[in-house]
Amino acid sequence: MNRALEKIKKNFDNRIRTAATEDELESIKQEFLGSQGALKRILDLIKTLPQSKRHSVKDKADNLEKYFQQVLVKKAKNSESSSRLDISLPGKKISQGHIHPLTQALLNIERVFESMGFSIFLAPELETEFYNFDALNIPEDHPARDLWDTFWLKGSFVLEDVLEKTGDKEEKPERLLLRTHTTAMQLRYMEKHNPPFRIITPGRCFRYEASDSSHDIQFYQIDGLIVDQNISIANFKAIITELFKRLFSSSIRIRIRPGYFPFVEPGFEIDISRYNAGDKSRKSYGRRGDAHNIESEEDKWLEIMGAGMVHPEVFKKAGYNPVNWQGFAFGMGVDRIAMIKYGISDIRLFYQNDLRFLKQF
Ligand code: PHE
Repeated sequence: MNRALEKIKKNFDNRIRTAATEDELESIKQEFLGSQGALKRILDLIKTLPQSKRHSVKDKADNLEKYFQQVLVKKAKNSESSSRLDISLPGKKISQGHIHPLTQALLNIERVFESMGFSIFLAPELETEFYNFDALNIPEDHPARDLWDTFWLKGSFVLEDVLEKTGDKEEKPERLLLRTHTTAMQLRYMEKHNPPFRIITPGRCFRYEASDSSHDIQFYQIDGLIVDQNISIANFKAIITELFKRLFSSSIRIRIRPGYFPFVEPGFEIDISRYNAGDKSRKSYGRRGDAHNIESEEDKWLEIMGAGMVHPEVFKKAGYNPVNWQGFAFGMGVDRIAMIKYGISDIRLFYQNDLRFLKQF
């Protein structure tokens, strides 16, 4: 019986050495391990052996079975890797990520401002009531606070930089909030720097309000602040005209209207409208270009920016003498600029991370 097993092993080794294809391996498997296979026949014969010999033969047969299985698996793996390697096939395309359309818009705007001599200043998203409101001439009882629906954090906190600023000897707890506008950076910057300067602050803002196609609870703004001795609205107009010309080429119209913000006097709102643009054939929701139809109508203006000459009260808080210094400030919605630039009809698309949408940019 032992000799029979050895013979089977020898046969198996010979066969496997020359086997090349999957089919051949399969038939070897059947021949040696199958229900009618060589090993099965041995196992059937074991019953005819005297009891004393059964165990050792059975062990040997089992070992042989394991050995066959291992060799077959190994051989199958080898032939798999060699048969799958076809160097004439075209390569697999490695998919590459790209920059989110909002980030692209932010970078474009930053580039234009940097070329006009502005520096970039970053301020925190988690802000104190003081910098977001009080420092901007919006005290607690000011009705204008209603203009900015605010996400407040629970509890109050004592913040060292606030204590330093207010010089309040008693520890006055501060309420924290998610900044409602990047304008909250103004005093943070002015208390550490002396004029003249020109800066922009890009960043995310939050408002506790119902979302619709042009409002979301989060959005990006870029705020700007220029302080110098002889700064006027004419400078502001020149700067935004240049900005929009560079961002949209000539297909954009700008409208400046009077507006109210407690931290500027006088204040304006700037609307833009796009005309002669758009591909009217593309209408489906979420497609790049689908809002050009709307924007191309003559009377559709989108409010894009608040601005104005810095209020003397804000300068006083910063310790600047409003008689010597003048400045203007502006804050623009980056999402809306991107919506107009790319012709997108719904601001919420920017935050849904739907690749079908994002891949278009
Ligand atoms: N912070 C204002 C807003 O979010 C915009 C603004 C900035 C207005 C600077 C005037 C000056 O609506």
